[in-house]
Amino acid sequence: MMTDQSAPQIHLWAFLQGIGHYPSGWRHPQATPAEVFTMDYYRRVGRLAERGRFDAIVFGDQLHSRGAGGRTSERLAMPTLDPVTLLVAMAAVTEHVGLVATISTTYNSPQMLAERLATMDRITGGRAGWNIVTSAYATTAGNFGEEQMPEKSARYANAVSTVAEATRLWQQAEVPIPQGRPVFIQAGQSGDGRDFAARTAEAIFCPAATIDDGIAFRTDLRQRIAAVGRNPDAVRIMPGLSFILAPTEEEALAKDAALLELADLDLCIEYLAESLTVDLSGQDPSAPIPLEHILENTLAPREDIAKVLAGPASKGISLGDFATAYVRTPRGHNVFRGSPEQMADMMIRWVDAGACDGFTMQPAWMPGELELFVDQVVPILQEKGRLRRNYPGKTLRDTLGLGPLEADLAA
Ligand SMILES: Cc1cc2nc3c(=O)[nH]c(=O)nc-3n(C[C@H](O)[C@H](O)[C@H](O)COP(=O)(O)O)c2cc1C
Repeated sequence: MMTDQSAPQIHLWAFLQGIGHYPSGWRHPQATPAEVFTMDYYRRVGRLAERGRFDAIVFGDQLHSRGAGGRTSERLAMPTLDPVTLLVAMAAVTEHVGLVATISTTYNSPQMLAERLATMDRITGGRAGWNIVTSAYATTAGNFGEEQMPEKSARYANAVSTVAEATRLWQQAEVPIPQGRPVFIQAGQSGDGRDFAARTAEAIFCPAATIDDGIAFRTDLRQRIAAVGRNPDAVRIMPGLSFILAPTEEEALAKDAALLELADLDLCIEYLAESLTVDLSGQDPSAPIPLEHILENTLAPREDIAKVLAGPASKGISLGDFATAYVRTPRGHNVFRGSPEQMADMMIRWVDAGACDGFTMQPAWMPGELELFVDQVVPILQEKGRLRRNYPGKTLRDTLGLGPLEADLAA
């Protein structure tokens, strides 16, 4: 097999939200949904990610409540536990893999998040990363005694000052933390989000359904990064990649179809309802998409929702058909279905085309699909010289190959 040691290395992150990224993933016969509440599960998947030489493990946060009566949590089974707690548990059984916690600037004081992240960086020997989010779900506000979430540009303005204040606290710490501060990561799509990323982030997590989407996003971000005087090569762009693997493409497609079949109509509608932040429980699945009801009741920005729904609604597509199709493209991320060789080739093609620097892996179900990736795709990438066999150092900054800390970032 051809080995090219000078070719760009592919960065890998494991986004281990809940129990996999397909809404029906937890219903896979070999899925172990109850285990996500056990320490054993986190030990196992933490070691697995390190065996696969992933840069980092990432957990999102979820500060909002799910629907009343436990409706959503019963069906979707996407428990989102506190990221810092999970990552520290995994740190105890790993040595190198980075640990990226999503922490909102809208609902944490700079002092509090600086303290938690400094503790993480210290006790992990410099493996902490901070996915800086501003929180997207309007229902979060109620959990903090507020009626409304601040509007998006105000949230991003607050993110800038929160990052600056936290940075000041880390710089003034009497005993410096191992990395000086955690690695800054960002996930956000809007113009405000992209500008914030360009000024602040060292790695960016985004959806890119196709190679062209990836090229467009990465090109745009690299331009924004250069425009603020930073080096675009010092920022890693890491789109999500969901996947279903099997020995042949045909078998992978059959496996994918069987998994999607496990998403019954109720579950599909529930998943869509959560994405739209609107209650769809009383709606007739065979009737057209109830656009007016959705726009009147959604807690998300109406323009964003209209953009997604106006086309399908004008074609008279039914709510049930739309919801069933929607679960097949999990939140706009690319979904790969095929053999390990095809997957390795696809990943190399994307990186070589400038569509990304690596991938945020989102297994369709856990932990089996992640195990398949580590056992079958990772060795191919290593043989082709595109994935490290060993970690270069101890810190997440070393692992990402980021070079020296940009001193004035977010100042
Ligand atoms: C791939 C991705 C993952 C995200 N994960 C989280 C999360 O776990 N918690 C959260 O509060 N916001 C999360 N966000 C939300 C964004 O960080 C941002 O706060 C929100 O989307 C509004 O900004 P935007 O319109 O610029 O995307 C995520 C966004 C993206 C694109």
